[in-house]
Amino acid sequence: MDRTGASGGRGFSSGSISRRDFLKISGAGIAGTALLGVTGCGGGGGVGGATELTFSFFPDRTGSVQALIDQFNSENEGEIQVSLREMPADSGQHFDQLNTEFQSGEINIDVIGGDVIWPAQFAANGYIADLSDRFPEDERSAFLPATIEAMTYQGGVYGVPWYTDAGMLYYRSDLLQEAGFTQPPRTWDELKEQARTVQERSGTQYGYVFQGADYEGGVVNALEYIWTSGGNVLEGDQEVIIDSPEARRGLEIERSMIDDGIAPAGVTQYKEQEVATIFLGGDAVFMRNVPRMYALASDPNESSIRPDQIQITSLPVAEEGLQSYSSLGGWNFFMNANTEDPDAAYEFIRFMSAPEQQKYRAIEGSVLPARQELYEDEELLQQVPVAELGQQAIQNTRPRPVSPFYSDMSLRMAEQFNASLNGEVSPDEALATLQEELQEIIEQGRQQGA
Ligand code: GLC
Repeated sequence: MDRTGASGGRGFSSGSISRRDFLKISGAGIAGTALLGVTGCGGGGGVGGATELTFSFFPDRTGSVQALIDQFNSENEGEIQVSLREMPADSGQHFDQLNTEFQSGEINIDVIGGDVIWPAQFAANGYIADLSDRFPEDERSAFLPATIEAMTYQGGVYGVPWYTDAGMLYYRSDLLQEAGFTQPPRTWDELKEQARTVQERSGTQYGYVFQGADYEGGVVNALEYIWTSGGNVLEGDQEVIIDSPEARRGLEIERSMIDDGIAPAGVTQYKEQEVATIFLGGDAVFMRNVPRMYALASDPNESSIRPDQIQITSLPVAEEGLQSYSSLGGWNFFMNANTEDPDAAYEFIRFMSAPEQQKYRAIEGSVLPARQELYEDEELLQQVPVAELGQQAIQNTRPRPVSPFYSDMSLRMAEQFNASLNGEVSPDEALATLQEELQEIIEQGRQQGA
């Protein structure tokens, strides 16, 4: 275990010394108290000399993240104590908050539970540490390759994968069966047809609910409509190809969900949680959501339907023969490049990303673990139905553009996709605008040498 390497990336002063090293040294009687003024400990002086760390993550309704932190704290009593700082549920707002704090230099977070799309931008600005030395090649190979690729930026590895995400189609298997459907839909047209039939029979309020708000989730949903219609955003790293007939078809299908009365107009404002609340309240036949929403189905406070009324499958496609795609999502551990105790911070990352903890969290939180071996764990596969399907869904994931300017690209996409969905602009107009705006962002990035 590398406990000494101060591979803390830019901004970590090589002259500083971690609290733990300090304790070791002073314990051996080498260092004097003068060093106390030089060193800090992650997040300030702790009770009984323990290093205090702050870990940030979005709100977890299952309580499984806090339970793991509690376990870590009790195993590391007197040495390292971690507290959880709750961040916004919306990935874009979450990013903005971190970015603002990093820019101001006033950030008090040591370990970030962060989105798969952040490493390029945070790494390019020197905000997060290159973990390559602490997280060597032979340890990385235990993880799903796509999760490691997503953490890699200009040769460095800036995060340890925690869990991966893919957009999935949840459906009311009980209602489909009652209506005589033995298979879930494979095309978007079939989804509409099944939704209508089921709604007529059962009186279910909505056919399909998904994330269409002006935010990151709206971007991934629209991209999925585009990809499952044969379109794409970029060819290679630099060439924008979004203004295509295939992409237009994707956005038209998305818009038609509202026009055809399958989805409520409210989808233009829905994020993951609102969508889950409707579906788990029994008010929709189908929903697009991430795996973690399945965990809420077994909690009667969160759900009026039971897990056995729900099944999950891949997202439909525009027509037979096209491939189903979903957006590669997921959450990872990043280390603040300026944390004052990188050894302690990495200790926590190591604990949280270890097989046992990933397994616990996968079962309790219904998330797809990033470690490959867990997909062969019988107990996990039995208890987390999304895990089996997850393997297939993971094969079909596509990353969003990897760029230090992704957050700008995403803002433009979120705005245009939402405007096309709510009818303010036509799909054609949205795509023509994006073609120009995205190309411009890429050109500017190229000029800045990124
Ligand atoms: C999920 C994904 C994340 C994505 C977000 C969009 O949390 O894991 O990658 O950005 O959804 O809302």
